[in-house]
Amino acid sequence: MKPFLKWPGGKRWLVSRYSHLFPKKFGTYIEPFLGSASVFFYLAPAKAILGDSNPDLIATYSGLRDDPLAVEEVLLTHEMNHCEAYPSAKVLQLFAGF
Ligand SMILES: C[S@@+](CC[C@H](N)C(=O)[O-])C[C@H]1O[C@@H](n2cnc3c(N)ncnc32)[C@H](O)[C@@H]1O
Repeated sequence: MKPFLKWPGGKRWLVSRYSHLFPKKFGTYIEPFLGSASVFFYLAPAKAILGDSNPDLIATYSGLRDDPLAVEEVLLTHEMNHCEAYPSAKVLQLFAGF
């Protein structure tokens, strides 16, 4: 899986260049600085604890977990209005009420 957000400091580059260094087996994946979640989506762990100090970001991921179709609808509307393949940090404000 790939991230759906463009995020400053995102680790897409790390996943694309150095994924061979990631452990193949691990227990619970703990990510306190989730951001665009590049590593999380790449590893797709069975069990994870995710956090971030940005409440809009957490609201977005909570919405994705609890009501993915509603999140998809917001993202599609955003894409139609802004012609962006990836929403940026600004669009997270759309999810503030999730
Ligand atoms: C560069 S992004 C993380 C990238 C991500 N781990 C990945 O796999 O692409 C950094 C994130 O850390 C969060 N952050 C910064 N300081 C924090 C803190 N003290 N506690 C929790 N999250 C924090 C920011 O809101 C931001 O979303």
